[in-house]
Amino acid sequence: MARFAYVNGRFERHGDASVHIEDRGYQFADGVYEVVTIFGGDFVDEVGHLARLKRSLGELRIPMPFTEAVLKLVMRELVRRNGVRDGYLYMQITRGVAPRDFKFPKSARSAIVMTTRRQIFTSAMPGDAGVRVISVPDIRWVRRDIKSVGLLAQVLAKQAAADAGAFEAWMVDADGFVTEGSSSNAWIVTRDGVLVTRQADSSILHGITGNSLEKLAGEAGIRVERRPFTLAEAYEAREAFVSSATTFCLSVTEIDGKPVANGHPGELSRSLRRHYFDYGRTRQDRPFSWPK
Ligand code: PDD
Repeated sequence: MARFAYVNGRFERHGDASVHIEDRGYQFADGVYEVVTIFGGDFVDEVGHLARLKRSLGELRIPMPFTEAVLKLVMRELVRRNGVRDGYLYMQITRGVAPRDFKFPKSARSAIVMTTRRQIFTSAMPGDAGVRVISVPDIRWVRRDIKSVGLLAQVLAKQAAADAGAFEAWMVDADGFVTEGSSSNAWIVTRDGVLVTRQADSSILHGITGNSLEKLAGEAGIRVERRPFTLAEAYEAREAFVSSATTFCLSVTEIDGKPVANGHPGELSRSLRRHYFDYGRTRQDRPFSWPK
């Protein structure tokens, strides 16, 4: 079956879809994006992803290309045309096409593209085996709360992880605290069983998956602390894991070559992963709120 992409008002064959060479996303990374999980043909945490999309656009003063209702229709039509049951939708909105000039163009219209990718999800894959992470310095700009397409530091971090045979790189700030993974949020479970992840300020991307995991953990009576943690604390943790729309909740079994606890995926992260699958399958899109 032909795959389609949505490009500025048209559904085009994925292989032929293209944008203009003077798209500001291409020249300046002047745009934002979202990745939304598709479970059983429907979106997981769509409300949260669209809230973050609007916030990112607002922070950069990029207008929405059309109303949210139209955006939702286009998302569904692309999933339908591509026959995706399980996978991801990627969308990117840039400030549009204009002759190269750093200042905002006066007349450009926001440009939008969307693609989908199929993926087979099972709660046993690959999370039950756990993944390795390495640490790298966080060399990004200071507005990491904006889901900008300017991802060069994350590309370098992820490649450093791959070169070291690891799945993810945890980025560490100038004070020695872990900020987040190159494309995921970072979590530890302390020896006392407290879930710890960094507070959602401008030092990290506010993860939509992590937000839902936090609610699921809270419902299960698990204490969650939003605060920075150091690598030293992570090395001593009972468990560690990463979260994102593409990994859900994935146990970390090794950090910088040191095993986390006994080097096997922890109970809490595995159980959160199962809970998140159930949550995704039942498509409970709960009212969205940013963590305090
Ligand atoms: N990345 N932190 C960073 C730097 C990220 O790039 C991501 C997601 C997250 C987790 O956010 P969420 O739970 O809303 O997916 C945290 C996506 C998946 C990506 O770039 O492919």
